[in-house]
Amino acid sequence: MERLQKVIAEAGITSRRKAEELILAGKVSVNGEVISKLGLKVSGKDIIDVDGVRLNRNVVRKYYILNKPRGVISSAIDEKGRKTVVDYIDTDVRIYPVGRLDYDTTGLIILTNDGKLANILAHPKNKIPKTYIAKIEGLLNKDDIDRLKSGIIIEGRKVFIEDFKIRDKDFEKKTSLVEITIVEGRNHIVKKIFESLKHPVIRLSRIKIAFLELGNLKSGQYRELTIKEVKKLYSLK
Ligand code: URA
Repeated sequence: MERLQKVIAEAGITSRRKAEELILAGKVSVNGEVISKLGLKVSGKDIIDVDGVRLNRNVVRKYYILNKPRGVISSAIDEKGRKTVVDYIDTDVRIYPVGRLDYDTTGLIILTNDGKLANILAHPKNKIPKTYIAKIEGLLNKDDIDRLKSGIIIEGRKVFIEDFKIRDKDFEKKTSLVEITIVEGRNHIVKKIFESLKHPVIRLSRIKIAFLELGNLKSGQYRELTIKEVKKLYSLK
């Protein structure tokens, strides 16, 4: 037996939080009976309808990585009709991105319809490392590097920097290219880290999530993950 919101999320149609909202809004029924409170557990035999549509609990699971271009929204739909990461993937299942990259951030993003894996990757307790390359204003001094090494407080909470390297320095233009690995999922976190050091980010790209790298995927290109990769991602729990 599993919680109703978990089963809805794992069917890949929405997040667990949104599934809770749908339940509370009276949009979910189990075996024909509307459920509007949280807490119900269901079995594999229960028939669940969400917004009048029968939940298919045996959908094919799909997993992709995309090299997200700049100027693309990291969500399944955009109210303003802008291009989203999902638009790049030719698939007949409803997938969504795991986590977010800013509109102007490029690089590696995972898309799937597997709510269980999405939860594993997004849950802070699993500490999934993500590596970014940032072009920042200015040249970092020893004090900046010490602050990065000891962890930066952002909005009252410390961000631990798992790894940090200066890749290049442009003394003429006074910019630096840095590589930073964090396990944090907070919005705009890399930009906030460098903002707090007074070295704002000019350009940002994610190059790695756990062991996954872009390889030869060019901007806008994607590929399906292999079964081996999916199993390895599951094992990060
Ligand atoms: N941190 C940011 O500031 N932006 C992103 O897109 C991802 C991480």
